Amino acid sequence: MTRQILVTSALPYANGPIHLGHLVEYVQTDIFVRFQRLRGHRVVYLCADDTHGAAIMIRAQKEGRTPEQLIADMAVQHQRDFANFGISFDHYGSTNSKANYTVAKGIWANLRRDGLVVERSVERLYDPVQKTFLADRFVIGDCPRCGARDQYGDSCEACGATYAATELKQPRSVHSGATPELRPSSQLFVRLEPLQAELTQWTQHSGALQTEVANYLAGHFLDKPLQDWDVSRPAPYFGFEIPDAPGQYWYVWFDAPIGYIASTAEWCAREGQQLDDWWRNPQCEIVHFLGKDITYFHTLFWPALLSVGGYQRPRRVQIHGFLRVNGEKMSKSKGTFVTAARYLEHLDAEWLRYYYASKLSSKIDDLDFQAEEFVGKVNSDLVGRVVNLASRSARFVEATGLSARYPDDGGLFARAAALGETIAAAYEACDYREATRLVMTLADAANEYVEQKAPWTLKKDPARATELQDVCTVVLNLFHQLLVYLQPVLPQLAARGGALLGSTCDRWQLTATPLVGTRVAKFEHLMTRVEADKVASMFVPEASAPAGVATPAAVAPAVAADTLAKEPLAAEITIDDFTKVDLRIAEVVAAEAVPEAKKLLRLTLSLGGGVTRNVFAGIKGAYEPERLVGRLVVMVANLAPRKMKFGMSEGMVIAAGTDGEVYLLSPDAGAKAGQRLH
Ligand code: MSP
Ligand code: ZN
Repeated sequence: MTRQILVTSALPYANGPIHLGHLVEYVQTDIFVRFQRLRGHRVVYLCADDTHGAAIMIRAQKEGRTPEQLIADMAVQHQRDFANFGISFDHYGSTNSKANYTVAKGIWANLRRDGLVVERSVERLYDPVQKTFLADRFVIGDCPRCGARDQYGDSCEACGATYAATELKQPRSVHSGATPELRPSSQLFVRLEPLQAELTQWTQHSGALQTEVANYLAGHFLDKPLQDWDVSRPAPYFGFEIPDAPGQYWYVWFDAPIGYIASTAEWCAREGQQLDDWWRNPQCEIVHFLGKDITYFHTLFWPALLSVGGYQRPRRVQIHGFLRVNGEKMSKSKGTFVTAARYLEHLDAEWLRYYYASKLSSKIDDLDFQAEEFVGKVNSDLVGRVVNLASRSARFVEATGLSARYPDDGGLFARAAALGETIAAAYEACDYREATRLVMTLADAANEYVEQKAPWTLKKDPARATELQDVCTVVLNLFHQLLVYLQPVLPQLAARGGALLGSTCDRWQLTATPLVGTRVAKFEHLMTRVEADKVASMFVPEASAPAGVATPAAVAPAVAADTLAKEPLAAEITIDDFTKVDLRIAEVVAAEAVPEAKKLLRLTLSLGGGVTRNVFAGIKGAYEPERLVGRLVVMVANLAPRKMKFGMSEGMVIAAGTDGEVYLLSPDAGAKAGQRLH
């Protein structure tokens, strides 16, 4: 029976580039989509850029352009990256589209109709200088949990805490630097409690969710009355103004998932399809793929909106874990925050697709990128076990083609065909680790056969030409089955291998019948091996942009005046005085807290060429040592060494501010350790 399936990946934020973490999701979804197409189902795969919100507005402001210009630019970049990784969207839209506004307006009208929108006054931070309410991202201050400075009003980049903007310590407005006041503001909320029974039923009993997800919702949200959802934000905000509440905008998470429907609508208009056939048709299976961080939005709010809007709820929400690199969170300063574009400068897209597939299960566990394992999987599985089958046999039948009848292979082909449904079940479950493992067992059996039959030996004996042709026919047929089974993961390899054998490799059923009597094209190289140093060179720390060090630039002007008053300028010096001080760029190669000292970190600084210095810096309160490693700083390199209680200090690190407030300096990108400052 042909199924009708609508598949989505989460809509990436337009305020940043696609990176290896995102690709876990887009590759995972694309494999599912290609698998379903290979099985002959009717599938549409949709996505869009998520363009609204304060973060995008602020970034555009900083870059001196409009949010529209920023998102147009990101749309091009995102789609280029996705295309390069073979992500086969049928349509890629934007949440800042007419279609999205129309659908959002419709759902909003239904929420109003059902009495689910309530207006309440809430205390919000207000900038008394600019005379405007402040969105979370327009307030910065100290994290209420860890005390890190200059954190935004919604979450802390240093410790990951999320909180309300009103909880920030020492809050300041990004616009004016003024201390915000609390003022009552009228806000719109969507009531979820009236839908609680329905949502409980759907999350716990419909089978749409992974068990771990269903349990998490039951234990964290559904065990008490669902809270009203704050869906409006006061101007200024980049988004859609709420039609019946001027000056108020829909919060980005209101219209973001609606983008799934809007993107479908645009695709329908282009392809002459009916939107209702996809979103209001119980026969159509809607499947969402997303990461665990956005579970809540997709499993409570979104199904509520769908239900009120008269749309089908998803048949399945497939949630995955997070990508880590060598066991740690991706980090810019450590060079493990790798963008899609950067990856492609060094490595092949299909290697990553295969590597991820070989690690992805249907669980929400995190996934660890390990360089050695990556090299091993590509070189030993793909090149050594799969591609090698063709490279050890295809040449011998270039002239003759495959045998006219499929020879006796001891049951190898039939066994591989019979395993097809088991492999398919693994793909269907998104257990790609199992799917690829099963395929590799088939590859092993095929390789044993090649070893045993040694076509290269048969080739030497003209009397055994028929046998040689038969052996190669078997090997290439087993190879062909592997190509089809792996086609969802490796569409390009399948296309290249298919061209060799005159097969399209685009139907699962092709694995059931052997190819016979067909031509074999001239063997061309199918896939290269990865060199380990190419993987290493992809992970290079970004010198000028250490992660987690917030930029206080936005508030600096407002406080500059009294800073100068507190610490007046020093007496004049000559240029000769200045040149006595040898300031150098240095790289932090190691950093650790000095346990006995309240303020000190012990830093090992490299000046390049193997020259390092041990320096104690009084920045313990402001910087976590792990975050410093890999970043560049400025040091006084010719300061006489000073004996301190904990050891020798061989220089000084330059920082702005005084005890309570310390900011290290970073050079612009391109500067290298050892360079002198003039
Ligand atoms: N814009 C929202 C989604 C709106 S959907 C209506 C968003 N965008 S995102 O760009 O931050 O993330 C897009 C998807 O990529 C999310 O599903 C997210 O979980 C996933 N990932 C982002 N970083 C990731 C990793 N490091 N690892 C794995 N997946 C990650 O969330
Ligand atoms: Zn914090």
